[in-house]
Amino acid sequence: MLELVPITDGIGTEVRGIDVSGPISDREFDRIHQAWIDTTILLFRGQEMTPAQHIAFTRRFGEVYAYTRSQFNHDEHPEILILSNITRDGKPIGSAYSGRVWHSDGAYLTDPPVGSMLYAREVPPEGGDTWYGNMYAAYDALPPSVKERIEDLKVVISRVRSRPYNYPDRPAPTARERAEWPDVTHPLVRVHEESGRKVLYAGGNVPWRIEGMSEDESAPLITFLQEFSIQPRFTYRHQWQAGDIVLWDNRSAMHRATSYDHVKHRRLMHRTTISGGRS
Ligand code: OGA
Ligand code: MN
Repeated sequence: MLELVPITDGIGTEVRGIDVSGPISDREFDRIHQAWIDTTILLFRGQEMTPAQHIAFTRRFGEVYAYTRSQFNHDEHPEILILSNITRDGKPIGSAYSGRVWHSDGAYLTDPPVGSMLYAREVPPEGGDTWYGNMYAAYDALPPSVKERIEDLKVVISRVRSRPYNYPDRPAPTARERAEWPDVTHPLVRVHEESGRKVLYAGGNVPWRIEGMSEDESAPLITFLQEFSIQPRFTYRHQWQAGDIVLWDNRSAMHRATSYDHVKHRRLMHRTTISGGRS
């Protein structure tokens, strides 16, 4: 029987009593979907699914986005992005170091992805955990004076500047990439399109700037908001077991990967991405 159990008081729902590779009725799915919207992340443990089943399950939540230009797509299923330190014929099969600072995926895009589903296939015995933070809860808890101050502010995000933070193992952006990657602007307080709730948008992987201010002028407020958001009451550190799935709402959760011993241990994660509605 389907059971929805809070992960902590502040974030997340563990979904029990369901095999995500099998059929899920609309009634069950609606309950799961609502818990996702309300609590920002879902956890499913002990799941066995093929890449095709992973994609099919993701599709229940929205349109699946394929990173067509990534060299780390699954060979037969480009909708699956591989995160791993494993190499084949001396070449990495996946992205090995991404996401090690607090962030929300694709913040540098006009329409960032709606969410992502990460499936653990092989995990190290220690490390390689993922942190998640509930940005509704962070917003709600801000002092009224801060809420008032930030209500209409916008953040300017540079893909070029964020690249070394997102992908420390990749080369600096080329001249062509610099030309193709314009800065984007997002409201610092967004209204989530499905819940209608206000949510703080203050990921930490870039020297974000507030529109109309310099980076130096922006830094104290941005730093305050980021540090405020990652207090223990809003966050959860997931220690992976093989067979775990975490689905995060990228509009209302931030996340961060942690390190592990790349020489001694293997980590293999499959990720699908739900595309941002308008793109
Ligand atoms: C991601 C990400 C974290 C992890 O897939 O977007 O940040 O722990 N992953 O692998
Ligand atoms: Mn990420």
